[in-house]
Amino acid sequence: MSGIIIVYPYATIVTRISEQFMNEEEIFQRLLALVGQYHAERKRGKFLNYLEPDALAAELALEKSATGDWQQLFAWMEQYLQHSVKTGHPGFLNRMWSGANLPSIAGEIITAVSNTSACTYEGAPVSTLMEHFMLDTMLDLAGFEGGEGQMTSGSSSGNMIAMLAARNRVAETSKQDGLFAQPPLVAFVSADSHYSLDKAANILGIGARQLVKVPVDERGRMQAKALEQLLQQHQQAGNRPFFVCATLGTTVRGAFDPLPPLIALREQYGFWLHGDGAWGGAALLDDELRQQYLAGVEQLDSFTWDFHKMAGANLMCNVLLFNHRRGTLRCVCSAGEHSYLFREEDESAELDTGTASLQCGRRVDSLKWFLDWKYFGKEGLAQRVRHYLALSKYAEQLVNRTPELEMSVPRESFNICFRFQVPQGVASNEFNLALRNRLFRRGISLVGIAYIDERLTLRLLFTHPDFSHAEVDQFFSSLVATGKELLNEPLHR
Ligand SMILES: Cc1ncc(COP(=O)(O)O)c(C=O)c1O
Repeated sequence: MSGIIIVYPYATIVTRISEQFMNEEEIFQRLLALVGQYHAERKRGKFLNYLEPDALAAELALEKSATGDWQQLFAWMEQYLQHSVKTGHPGFLNRMWSGANLPSIAGEIITAVSNTSACTYEGAPVSTLMEHFMLDTMLDLAGFEGGEGQMTSGSSSGNMIAMLAARNRVAETSKQDGLFAQPPLVAFVSADSHYSLDKAANILGIGARQLVKVPVDERGRMQAKALEQLLQQHQQAGNRPFFVCATLGTTVRGAFDPLPPLIALREQYGFWLHGDGAWGGAALLDDELRQQYLAGVEQLDSFTWDFHKMAGANLMCNVLLFNHRRGTLRCVCSAGEHSYLFREEDESAELDTGTASLQCGRRVDSLKWFLDWKYFGKEGLAQRVRHYLALSKYAEQLVNRTPELEMSVPRESFNICFRFQVPQGVASNEFNLALRNRLFRRGISLVGIAYIDERLTLRLLFTHPDFSHAEVDQFFSSLVATGKELLNEPLHR
């Protein structure tokens, strides 16, 4: 065997210089250059080079074969970047995130090249310690004592696992025997809660009909009085209320269900009280905002929060926290014979995160989270959240003083729900949809849409850390100009 042996100083990697090795090095250089260029240019030009699906399919030539052909792979990677939505661009205002923090991106790259599963200390030692460190930090932040946590694949999962823990607590035999021969279990959420709760009710055998939607008040918050009446009705009917989820930052309006009255009802009815802070959980970072929006959070039974939303980590980055009851996650989630992976006699068994998870292979999400946290710190992230709130107040004022626009509902927190006002005889929903789609197709901006009481609303969220009033002004002025243009077209006259 010919070749030179290289011993790398930081590891015991021994490899041969060969054609293959040189090629891999070149590939990495080219890859990093491509990624670096994309990142440097992500805010320039249009946020999307939009093509209709047929045209894009023709350009991508997905059926082409490319065995051993890196040139072709690079061509696809370049096309991917060229035709992807540039979420770091100021025109991208569609979702609850935009771009990603640079420390987090660095973490993702390291995670991809090292590629391990975060389920055992043995297979993912650093990730395991970082995850525990971050979970402890978040438990402290939430004020949960004797608790535990887990990174899950997102708040949809976090909501479901919380419901599962509540189900197994009230129906103790359900893990082994299923839900047969039980009085119906009933869960309660606000009418404006996230659809992941409906999915959870389906998956866990509760049934969508047993997920009761509690009416909201005029501000989009769950009405505690209505909840109380529904709890009474269901109890009288022989059903078992077992779970209430407070939405802490609703998806459309940004409303926070008030916790103190729900905590008082829990005393009486004994349900598990979960907080869905996927979006609004970020208010935990700032003491005043916590007081304003999340008062009582430390008394919840469980709480989920997406770090990939307002806090800006790469997708996905979620934390699910349980208050008190350490050991519950393992008890609820583990099942079956898994000694090929987890062994109680291993010294590090206590640290293994996989036994408390519903997954087997688990993506490493801890590194990016840890790096973001260390780089920005709590105060840095709190500043960001305060900044987003200030921007949403500014945007609301701007809507209110622009004659062409109106707020669909008053602002509750971070979300701006507004629409273009149309003259008599023009259908508002169709017009606002057409306006939004024109802005999108032209690569100017992409803003969210939703329905409030069957009326279409544009939903604007701020998640770009470097946004200033100038970007907000720019967004609204292009929207108003495009709206006026659209109004002058024959269809809308
Ligand atoms: C209030 C709320 N809960 C849950 C979710 C689901 O979060 P994920 O996308 O992390 O599953 C969302 C997503 O937007 C949300 O707004």
